[in-house]
Amino acid sequence: MKITLTKNPKQKPDFSNLGFGKYFTDHMLLMEYKDGAWGEIEIRPFEPFAMSPASNILHYAQGIFEGAKAYKNDKGEITVFRIDDNFTRMNNSAKRLCMPTFDSAKVKEALFELLKIEKDWIPTAKGTALYIRPTMIADQPVLGVHASHVYKFFIILSPVGSYYAHGLQPTKILVEEHYVRAAIGGTGEAKCMGNYACSLLGGEEANKKGYDQCLWLDAAEHKYVEEVGSMNMFFVIDGVVVTPALVGSILPGITRRSVIEVLKAHNMPVEERRISMDEIEKAYDEGRLNESFGSGTAAVISPVGTLCYHGRDMIINNGKMGKITQFLYDEITGIQNRTKEDTFGWVTKVN
Ligand code: COI
Repeated sequence: MKITLTKNPKQKPDFSNLGFGKYFTDHMLLMEYKDGAWGEIEIRPFEPFAMSPASNILHYAQGIFEGAKAYKNDKGEITVFRIDDNFTRMNNSAKRLCMPTFDSAKVKEALFELLKIEKDWIPTAKGTALYIRPTMIADQPVLGVHASHVYKFFIILSPVGSYYAHGLQPTKILVEEHYVRAAIGGTGEAKCMGNYACSLLGGEEANKKGYDQCLWLDAAEHKYVEEVGSMNMFFVIDGVVVTPALVGSILPGITRRSVIEVLKAHNMPVEERRISMDEIEKAYDEGRLNESFGSGTAAVISPVGTLCYHGRDMIINNGKMGKITQFLYDEITGIQNRTKEDTFGWVTKVN
């Protein structure tokens, strides 16, 4: 591995007002693929790439990414949460997008070096972390539509607070009844860039109407809940936690899986299955829709206070964070920031 340190360290932002993904650390990790192999991993100053305007990522979106987080405690110990799962999912995304897979053990080792170099960029206040963004892009200057022969893999780091500007205040979600995010057989379960580009219009329209995000339904019937793009979705109906099954069009969220595993470990009922908006609406009308929340690396566990369907706002749990949502938030963030015991083996020490 080659390491080049910056001669111009940046001024750090105000860690008490980070928002999400607005600041980037001094260094990044870079690895390039050509002639059928990945080259040496390099840690170098965070700086712009020079790219050909013909680079195929710019035309055909052959690109994938991940989101993970690093934490630091008051002893200066750095940890990461389920990072192996991120690299496994990224290699799965790579296969779906005809991109080369990579050696996750080598990349993890280099990431740990990068995190040690950037240790002063890891915020420690409750609700903050250093967001890790591994990314892979095609980078061959060619306009033919085929898999690239040249790629860049890079990791950038960003100190972050809450994903939503309103923090843990329950979100307002609009069920999208016209546009779709992904169809079975498409790329919905890969973490590829195009999934996010195609979700923007629904999201913008939801924002204009006063909602934080939109909830995607299945592409075939526009009936079944899929996900919110930046979060997987959960509903508590009659005390049972229900989440859409991974049918091929939904991102297999790592926080989603953590939620399911925490619930099972506490003998709390959880179901992965198809769930229709009709079922949710009926449960709401009968007073059986107890809670709803989303899960994601960036979003952590975010309560849903309002769900709008067919033009009607359903106010869930009086618009407040419910007990099961709070329990899951406390358990998962407790394991992440090491105030709770990690009985699952999800946390890895970096230094
Ligand atoms: C994450 O939760 O890490 C994501 O990638 C979602 C979003 C910020 C794109």
